Amino acid sequence: KELPYPVITIDGTTASGKSTVAKEIAKVLGFTYFNTGALYRSVTWKILALGYDVHDEEKVVEACRRLNLRCVIQKEDSFSQASILVDDQQPTEKELRSSEVNEAVSIVASYRKVREWLLPFQRELAYKEPLVVEGRDIGTVVFPESPYKFFLDANLEEREKRREEQGERDNVAQRDRLDISRSSAPLLCPADAVKLDTTKLSAQKVVEKILDILWKKGLTI
Ligand code: DC
Repeated sequence: KELPYPVITIDGTTASGKSTVAKEIAKVLGFTYFNTGALYRSVTWKILALGYDVHDEEKVVEACRRLNLRCVIQKEDSFSQASILVDDQQPTEKELRSSEVNEAVSIVASYRKVREWLLPFQRELAYKEPLVVEGRDIGTVVFPESPYKFFLDANLEEREKRREEQGERDNVAQRDRLDISRSSAPLLCPADAVKLDTTKLSAQKVVEKILDILWKKGLTI
């Protein structure tokens, strides 16, 4: 099925600047911002809250299938974003970025059946709104037909520094390792994506580069 609205995909390594850049692009274009990392984090938060051992794949998959996931589009003045409700609860930003979730999320996200379960949920949104979607497999698996694909990376030292500055306890290298080495939809740069190294670039510069490429590709809003 052809996508009715444009979808801009922004994949990349942990702390490569995806969220800052994707939000800004969404603002400029008036598109809805969809952070799929928050989707994996919300599910992981709920699984932990229910007391499951995240290493028990079978139980985790079973528990996921019983969850009721909903997506609400929150519209503010100049910004619209997709928020995820799990069993009618919306975890706070602090809960989603806790060290427990940081540690467990890449494990839950490595389960093929969890990813398969979340795939139609992610695609559905594209039939309602133009989107800027950030994640790890958005250009490769979720929206492979999008002509607007980007991949961000930066050297590990710089990315660890960025997380630290955000006051977060996060094992960037370990999460990368898990995301890259998993067998189901591993993190990789889509063949037809524009790859940007953000180590020495400000977020504003990355946004400018992406917008420039989008206009050259003929994106109309
Ligand atoms: O972008 P983030 O750091 O909030 O993502 C958290 C984790 O979720 C990431 O380490 C792997 C997983 N994830 C994924 O597997 N696929 C996506 N499209 C987005 C996130």
